[in-house]
Amino acid sequence: MKISVTDKRPAKGDVIVLTSEEGKLPNVPEAEFKGAALSLYSEHKDGRRVVYAGLGKAGEIKSDTIRKAVGAAVKKLAGLEVASVVLELDKYWAEAQAAVEGAYIGAYKYEEFLPEERRRKIAIKSITLVAGKTNLAKVRAAAKEGEVLGEATNLVRKLGDSPGNVIYPETLATRAQQVAKANGLSCKVWTDAALKKDKFGGLLAVGGGSVRGPRFIEMRYNCRKAKAPTIAVVGKAITFDTGGISIKPDSAMDEMKFDKMGGCAVLGIMQAVAKLKLPVNVVGLISSAENMPDGAAYRPGDIVTTFDGQTVEVLNTDAEGRIVLADALGYARTRVKPDYMIDMATLTGAVVVALGMDRAGVFTEDEKRRMQWHKLGEQTGDRVWPMPVGDEYDEQVKSDIATVKNLGNSRWGGACTAASFLKTWVGDIPWTHLDIAGTAWATSAKPYLEKGATGAAVRLVTAFLKEF
Ligand code: BES
Ligand code: ZN
Ligand code: ZN
Repeated sequence: MKISVTDKRPAKGDVIVLTSEEGKLPNVPEAEFKGAALSLYSEHKDGRRVVYAGLGKAGEIKSDTIRKAVGAAVKKLAGLEVASVVLELDKYWAEAQAAVEGAYIGAYKYEEFLPEERRRKIAIKSITLVAGKTNLAKVRAAAKEGEVLGEATNLVRKLGDSPGNVIYPETLATRAQQVAKANGLSCKVWTDAALKKDKFGGLLAVGGGSVRGPRFIEMRYNCRKAKAPTIAVVGKAITFDTGGISIKPDSAMDEMKFDKMGGCAVLGIMQAVAKLKLPVNVVGLISSAENMPDGAAYRPGDIVTTFDGQTVEVLNTDAEGRIVLADALGYARTRVKPDYMIDMATLTGAVVVALGMDRAGVFTEDEKRRMQWHKLGEQTGDRVWPMPVGDEYDEQVKSDIATVKNLGNSRWGGACTAASFLKTWVGDIPWTHLDIAGTAWATSAKPYLEKGATGAAVRLVTAFLKEF
């Protein structure tokens, strides 16, 4: 998709016009369109299609309102197989970044395995932003950032929508190497022998039951600035989670191809950080395994020794994400020694019970950071809500025979006991954990988004790194 910015409406292409409730459309009955958020109204005017995208009340329009409204309009035009789109930003020119992100989000559809006749014949080739008489250089810079984040989001969505027989630890590692090569990042992959040699006991245990061996992936972005801080961004990438010996019930087990979304987000973030040339060093770490039941699978009761030597009493093989993350966090703490750590994971069903599917849980002990995550969540549309960390949960993962156990004493507060478990490997490094189990994929389509992977946390974490 080619994005460009001009100051007056080009003669060709279907047009999107942003319309608030106050910006009435003459000759259109209110029942048909009154500019409500996410509503659309199309008409043909001067030989071209014009789509009015509702923004709701003028006083309540935020970046994310623009992102989703543009997303809805572009999704509609993409479905109509339109090739070139003109987007009238008009007085919303300051929201060019959000608008372009929305355009990418709306244009994406996973078609890899659809029969030829059901695929789109024409994809959107160009989007021209009309910004009116303003600082075009500024709008162009913002649009460029939107492009980087939109591309990163869709890269992650494509990985996510790809099923477990296409994306498994080995192929995910290959994708990471491709992204690294294309963006000037270093990339190191641990295969079975290296994992054994370096004692990644968590990954080896969780991946033990699969014929597709686990991988640990490290991607590094170096900003080449003296005294720049280093941030480790860690992701859970279980390419398919059957639950293992503690096997899951069959309802919706297919969705567990999305259990890799935290790790996939790391890939997208690394690409975005490199393209934006952010002035921080970022180390992306992905723990990837397939959780399968098998003769070689780990079992309830096993005690696993993780990378840093701390041990886990396994009480349920379906609480596997925290075990592969223990290796990655322990590696980050002892080898990378970063100034800050962020981990992202589709970690618990409990966070979905707590917050639903539109907000991820954010766990951090630092109140200022908690507020920062919340603010960035509202801005980027990657919304979050604070969840507690504390010794009341630490108590619940204590084990009589190992450092910790991988289940809380009761099933209540499961997202919080999972976060406490992770904290064991974090030590004194300032840290945030994002539980994206509810937000990583959509179980039904939205006006601005196809059903499937969402790319959750990519825009949020990149914005955090930009501010760091
Ligand atoms: N991948 C799941 C968490 C999950 C469940 C994500 C549903 C999205 C939707 C994770 O590995 C898991 O199975 N967690 C268990 C933990 C439990 C056994 C303590 C859960 O949440 O039920
Ligand atoms: Zn599981
Ligand atoms: Zn899982």
